[in-house]
Amino acid sequence: MPYSLYEIKPFTHQVPSKLPLNLRRDLSKLTPRIYRSNREQGAMTKRITVAKITDLEPGSCLSVEADGIGVALFNVNGRIYALDNTCPHAGGPLGEGTLAGEVVECPWHGWRYSVTTGERLENPEFKVACYEVQVTGDLIQVSVPANS
Ligand code: FES
Repeated sequence: MPYSLYEIKPFTHQVPSKLPLNLRRDLSKLTPRIYRSNREQGAMTKRITVAKITDLEPGSCLSVEADGIGVALFNVNGRIYALDNTCPHAGGPLGEGTLAGEVVECPWHGWRYSVTTGERLENPEFKVACYEVQVTGDLIQVSVPANS
């Protein structure tokens, strides 16, 4: 194995983004439980404005960036959810997937995730981070780890 699992801090929100994509994919498979929400981690967060509510029609999704972190936004009947934008399978952009109810299908190979929990439907061991969302006026804000 060309890398050490000990290079990853326990319970960090995502695999380090500076690693090459193939290593991030491998680490995602090996350590699916590191994908935890900010609240689960008890991490310090900062709130970032990422879009206007008018950018995200009900039933749609969107890829945005929050202080260097890729975030996927989803509008489920007017309620906004945010997940890490990187699919643990091979890095597909979940914000460019297909939203059906509370389920998003990755655009690359079709893995499906609950937008409310971040868990893969077929195997909940694979989970993407959930970010807290606040809508202030017409602005969508997400809370991302402050140490990112
Ligand atoms: S990258 Fe393969 S299913 Fe998402």
